[in-house]
Amino acid sequence: MELKYENITKNYRRKIALDNFNATLNEGIYALLGPNGAGKSTLMNITATLLKPTAGSVLFDGTDIFKLGGEYRNILGYLPQDPGFYPTFSGLQIMKYFAELKNVNSPQNRIDQLLEFVNLKDDCNRKYKEYSGGMKRRLGIAVSLLNDPKILRQYRTKLVD
Ligand SMILES: Nc1ncnc2c1ncn2[C@@H]1O[C@H](COP(=O)(O)OP(=O)(O)OP(=O)(O)O)[C@@H](O)[C@H]1O
Ligand SMILES: [Mg+2]
Repeated sequence: MELKYENITKNYRRKIALDNFNATLNEGIYALLGPNGAGKSTLMNITATLLKPTAGSVLFDGTDIFKLGGEYRNILGYLPQDPGFYPTFSGLQIMKYFAELKNVNSPQNRIDQLLEFVNLKDDCNRKYKEYSGGMKRRLGIAVSLLNDPKILRQYRTKLVD
C-alpha cells in the first residue's frame, strides 16, 4: 500500500497554503507536525478528496485518488479537525447514522465492537453535546474506523485480536 503526494500545491485565492509538497507513505504510522496555518488540514482534506489541489496529484498504489473516487473512500478512515456531528444525537445514534452512510456490513456488531474499543459503551446513549472533549475524540475515532479502513490498519489489528 502506497500513498504518494506529487508536487502538491494549494492556493486559496492568493494565499499559498501548500507549496510543492512531496512525500511517499507506506504502511506504518505517520504524524504530520507543523505550526498553526502550516497546511496540515489542507493536506488532510486533499487526502480525503474533500479538496482538490491547485496543482499536483495524490496517488494511491499508482492511481490518482480523484479517479478512484468511492473505491478509494471505502478504504479511508478520516477524522476531521471538526467532525460536525449533530450535537443532539447520542453517541450511538451518530454511530448508526455513519454506519448507514458507509454501508457497513452487520453494523450492530461493528458498532458494539468499536464502542467497546473506545470505551464509550456506558455513555453511548448520552447526547454528543454532553460529551467531554476526550469522549468526543474517542467517538470520532470509532466513527472513522466503522468501515475497517486500510489506512488505519494498526487499530484494525488490535480489534481483530
Ligand atoms: N478556506 C480557506 N480560505 C482561505 N484560506 C484558507 C482556507 N483554509 C485554510 N486557509 C489558509 O491556508 C493556510 C493553511 O491552513 P490549514 O488550515 O491547512 O492549517 P493547519 O496546519 O491545519 O493549521 P492548524 O494547526 O491551526 O489547524 C492558513 O494560512 C489558512 O489561513
Ligand atoms: Mg488544522
